[in-house]
Formats: sequence, structure tokens, C-alpha cells
Amino acid sequence: MPSKQKIVYVCNECGAESPKWLGRCPQCGEWNTMQEETVSVDKSSAVSRMAQAALLHDVRAVPLTSVEVKDTRRSSTANGELDRVLGGGIVPGALILIGGEPGIGKSTLVLQMALTLPSRVLYVSGEESVGQIKVRADRLCPGGGDNCMVVSDTMIDRLAQHIDDTHPEIVVVDSIQTVQTERIDSLPGSISQIKECTAVLMHLAKSRNLPIILIGHINKDGQLAGPKVLEHMVDVVLQFEGDRNHLYRILRGIKNRFGSTNEIGIFEMMGCGLREVVNPSEMLLSAYAGGLSGISVAAAIEGLRPFLIETQALVSTAAYGTPQRSAMGFDVRRLNMLLAVLEKRAGFKIASKDVFLNLAGGIKVQDTALDLPIAAAIISSGTDIAIQQGVCLAGEVGLSGELRPVSRVEQRISEAAKLGFRRIIIPEQSRFAVSDKLTIQIERAAQLSDAFRLLFA
Ligand code: TYD
Ligand code: MG
Repeated sequence: MPSKQKIVYVCNECGAESPKWLGRCPQCGEWNTMQEETVSVDKSSAVSRMAQAALLHDVRAVPLTSVEVKDTRRSSTANGELDRVLGGGIVPGALILIGGEPGIGKSTLVLQMALTLPSRVLYVSGEESVGQIKVRADRLCPGGGDNCMVVSDTMIDRLAQHIDDTHPEIVVVDSIQTVQTERIDSLPGSISQIKECTAVLMHLAKSRNLPIILIGHINKDGQLAGPKVLEHMVDVVLQFEGDRNHLYRILRGIKNRFGSTNEIGIFEMMGCGLREVVNPSEMLLSAYAGGLSGISVAAAIEGLRPFLIETQALVSTAAYGTPQRSAMGFDVRRLNMLLAVLEKRAGFKIASKDVFLNLAGGIKVQDTALDLPIAAAIISSGTDIAIQQGVCLAGEVGLSGELRPVSRVEQRISEAAKLGFRRIIIPEQSRFAVSDKLTIQIERAAQLSDAFRLLFA
């Protein structure tokens, strides 16, 4: 029942509103992001209703010690990796957003969870028909799904009815970009629809103490499509990432009001759904027999998990005037920084060379301890000298070519030892205490050049 309508221009990057069209968003500074939207200035919108309800509430400050904690027991999702990222399971009343590029496997992940969970799940899909969901479910978990209720619906206003009909313990909404509410005139996926629908979901989750998992798509820049307010409104934001042409997927915690965001979950996409990867090192070390130049092994940590990952570099003479630099799974700006350090501080002439870098498994690693192994792979490729097998490295490289200490060295060392590595090269200043029983030889280097001497001498 929209009463009055007006036209506003909304930035599709940050959600800023303006009464006039502008070429550049005054809030986030992005160009060509302002879109026309019709919004109703109706007081019955969920956002304003929530604000009204809050005003009527008797709100008073109380001593923290007298606050009673509501039930925050977590329920398991029957998926070890998902539980790990959520901080142990789902908290009642939590609104959880899972973001990721189209086709990365978000629907597969949540449907698989819905099918294996003993508690009742309501799966609301605005993207697929119930028939399509059934076909997928049969592939993921043949014969399962007794507790999974499905409905194909895009009207968020009917969700409360669906919940009353089915009494679920968890609700899944796939996806926020396809659902809409009648109260707003703009199309599904527009900023005002996303804002309003999220407010409705938030209200449902909190008022019924019912966890809701929301799926969201990511735009080409890797940002969640829709305004930043979406991320602010929900309790938990998880990002599902990976290279669609590779098998491995990482689920990363971006925000968590109920736990830390340090953990990551690793999955492998199989013909019958996603498999939890409990031991990531084994998949990230390809079975190369040694003797090839340009390959090094990094003792990395992502989240709280140590794993060994193979890094590959290829240095070749530039075919064109401007050398190319490309990096898969690693920040290309950081690669450029490493190349400049190698050129200036270690004396390697690579300014006129093409440099290509690749991390195994198609995953993105943010750990700065990859600097040293990557620099070593580049030098190994440039000089065509292979790094010995059974050697791994960890170290951050500073601008003057010094090696800076990295976090959790003990864990890196014991992971390398566990996988049968003979030597690990770490920064001189790293402080740690490891048991003497380790079979791995620990070598320290203060500068890049020291590390290269240990590797290539
Ligand atoms: P999907 O969950 O539909 O992605 P999203 O919801 O993030 O858009 O997953 C899509 C891809 O996953 C699809 O391209 C095929 C692949 N896939 C498998 O490889 N194995 C499977 O068992 C399933 C269900 C999907
Ligand atoms: Mg999907």
C-alpha cells in the first residue's frame, strides 16, 4: 500500500542516495554508479516499522553485570568446515550472509547442509523451481531431505506465512538479489529492495529467534552486489571464493558478531557436491617429481590453519616493449613490489622480463609469508636452477630486502615436518619454541640474499 512515491538516485556501490543524478557518487567516489529508483515514502516500510517499534520500547541503560544472556548455544550445521568458519555452529536468531560469485557453489553448499541436517530446514529459492532443486538434491544426497522443505518464491512478504506453515529450525533464502517486497516499487536486486528485504529478514530472525541464511551474489570487483549497508545489517558475512575452473573453494569469515573471523573452510567441488577438505596441504602440493625450476613450496597460514602450498613462477624475456606481470591467487601489486625489491636489493635484472605467477589449486592466499617462497620461485625460474625437493619457506619481504618475522612459526614448522619436509627457511628474527623431536632442519635468514645462498649455493 505505497502512499507516496518519489524518485531517488542510489549508488549501487555504497547505497548513498541523492535526489539528483550525479556522474560520481559523492560518498564513495565511484563513477557511473548512480541508478534511478522509485521508492515509496511509506511509513509502513520494515525499516521505519522497526524504528517505530524501537521508539516505543522502554530502553534504559543497565549495569553490564546484570545483563542476562539469552540462549546462545550453537547448533551444528553437520558440516565441519562450515561450523569452523561460523565459530562452532549457528547461533539462534542469527542472520548469516553467504556471498560469492555466480556458479561458485553457494546454493550447493547450503542445500547440502539442508539435506544432511537432522533439524528441519526451509529452503526458499527465488532462483530455481522446486523441480530444479529436487534434481540437484538427488545428485547431492540421494534419498535424503526428509527434513528439508522447499518453496520457490520471490515475495519476501510471504516468508512469515511459509515459516508458520512449516515450523523450520533454519531458513535459507537463495538469493537476496531475487527476492522482493511489495512495499517497494523498484526491481528485485535494486538497492532499496535489498535494504528493505534484509530488514524484513532481520526482523523475522530476531523476533522468532530463528537463524536465517541468506545468499548474495558478488559483483565483478569481488564486492557483495548491493550496498555496504547489507553487510552492516547482517550478523555474519561469509565469502565463498575460488577459481571456477579449479576444484577448490575457500569459505572465509568476513564478519562475525558471534565469533572470530580467523577461520577458513576448504572444500573441493566434486560431481556429487562439495567435499570438506580436512588436510589442505595434500591437495596444494602437486605431485611433481622435482628437478623443475620455478617451483617453491610455501609454509602458509590462512585463517588459523597451516598448510603447504606450491608456488610456481615463470620468468621469460618480454615479447613486447612493456613486460607483462600476472599473478593467479596472489596480489599483483605485491608481486610488483617483490620484483622491485629483487631488482634493487638483490641485483637480479628482471625489469625487462615477463613474470607469471601461479598458486596451486586456484585459491587466493593473503598470507604475507608467501613473499619469500614467491621471490625464491622467481629467482629459480630466472636462473633456471631448481630448488631442492623437501625444502619449504616462509617469510615476509621488506622493502630493503630484509626478511620480517611471520606469525605462528611453530605451526608452520610442525606442518612442514608432518608432511616430511627436510628443511624450512624462516626469517632470522622469528621467535618460537618447538619441540626438539622434530625431524626438520630449521634454517634462518636475515636478508633475501641469505635465503638465496641457503637455497641455491
Ligand atoms: P551453484 O551452487 O549453483 O552455484 P551458485 O549458487 O554459487 O551460483 O553451483 C554451480 C556449479 O557447481 C555448477 O557450475 C556445477 C557445479 N557443481 C558440481 O560440480 N557438482 C555438483 O554436484 C553440483 C551440484 C554442482
Ligand atoms: Mg545459486
